[in-house]
Amino acid sequence: MDKFFHIVTYGCQMNVHESEKIAGILSEMGYKSCESPEEADIVVFNTCCIRENAENHAFGNIGMLKKLKAARKDMLIAVGGCLPQQMNKAENLHEKFPYVDIIFGTHNLHNLKGLIEKKLKMRKTLIEIEDSEGEICEDDKPLRTSYPNAWVNIMYGCNNFCSYCIVPYVRGRERSRDSRKIIEEVRSLVSEGYKEITLLGQNVNSYKGELTFPQLLKEIADIDGKFRLRFMTSHPKDFSPELIKVMAQNPKICHCLHLPVQSGSDAILKAMNRKYTAGQYLEKVEMLKKAIPDCAITTDLIVGFPGETDEDFKATLELAKKVNFASAFTFVYSKREGTVAAKMPNQVPEEVSKARIMELVELINSQTRALSQMYIGKTVEILCEDYDSKRGLYMGRDEYGRMGYFASQKNLIGQFVNVRIEHANGVSLTGEVV
Ligand code: SAH
Ligand code: SF4
Ligand code: F3S
Repeated sequence: MDKFFHIVTYGCQMNVHESEKIAGILSEMGYKSCESPEEADIVVFNTCCIRENAENHAFGNIGMLKKLKAARKDMLIAVGGCLPQQMNKAENLHEKFPYVDIIFGTHNLHNLKGLIEKKLKMRKTLIEIEDSEGEICEDDKPLRTSYPNAWVNIMYGCNNFCSYCIVPYVRGRERSRDSRKIIEEVRSLVSEGYKEITLLGQNVNSYKGELTFPQLLKEIADIDGKFRLRFMTSHPKDFSPELIKVMAQNPKICHCLHLPVQSGSDAILKAMNRKYTAGQYLEKVEMLKKAIPDCAITTDLIVGFPGETDEDFKATLELAKKVNFASAFTFVYSKREGTVAAKMPNQVPEEVSKARIMELVELINSQTRALSQMYIGKTVEILCEDYDSKRGLYMGRDEYGRMGYFASQKNLIGQFVNVRIEHANGVSLTGEVV
């Protein structure tokens, strides 16, 4: 009889790709993918703990499986990813959800097969959280679900210890993959027909292989075939003129850059341990705009970091106005136990943070809308990614990451399509194939 798996993913692209690796392991074990926990023989939660609401979300959904598990005792529930990797969290999870069968950490993913086999021979919950990162595992055979895009890890972990951030504690120190292995992986993905390659790392600029990050990008861009090349995330402190040059000289590298600034106030940036000032950030942005005038710059912003005053917040608004971000992820600071900022005095009251985030979101939305309006009447090349059955339209993105919708009789998924934009509604564009 067929066995089925269902994976629920939270968090960043890194986790999305890791779920593809989990799916790869489960398919090798003979499981097939299914759409809902009700049909599944194993449900895996791949969790995130970057902010409290990410955690609560996972907790809520794990809690919802209690009834199902009571009715179907032979169904396995596994919880992995960043959440259980936090100090004492695995025990906490076990207490709260005693019916969860396997709890594993970020460094145990590659042994999921072994964990499942071990669990099937025992009654009690199997908890395995490795403290240290160990060697990079090169045996992954991810079951990719994001065609025509393919995610490719180039490095893991983070050494930056921004004072608010839990990632260095749950993902371990920076480890870079071998440059040749990365290039080989991309070459084979391109020959399999993938049209967009996104290189992944918490801080791709600090990639340290035989090649530097700009050299690696250039070699990948030199691979034959038509495909787009993206990378994320870049840390402003390591964003270099060499990288700008490589971006400007290689047409396969998309003219868009995600460059999280977090705040526009020097005092807050210092307290965040970001290692750059607002002025230095703006200088790098200017350098980039000069070399690549059409480059779309996106960012992450946090409001309500401990000690953030109205003046500090104004500086963030000012910086956002100067850069004119194509879009931005905006977050209210969330206290993460074990980080340096969690112990800082002057935590900002919730009402203040809420008012600030609303003002910031309004500004960012107005910038995004204004950029959308400039698209009207223009023809852009969209890589068709999917069919949106609700709208009855195909959708995809242009090289700047802007989403576009269009009608077609033919299935165009995986193809580059020229679309003349007719309507702009907030972030999304609609047009006609030309
Ligand atoms: N490595 C990436 C981002 C990882 S987390 C980088 O350095 O840019 C993604 C975003 O979540 C961060 O850029 C930050 O804006 C936000 N974030 C991280 N920790 C947070 C916290 N404790 N509260 C609110 N937002 C947070
Ligand atoms: Fe977190 Fe900073 Fe590392 Fe990004 S660079 S993952 S924000 S510690
Ligand atoms: Fe979340 Fe872990 Fe990514 S905490 S944002 S899933 S690295």
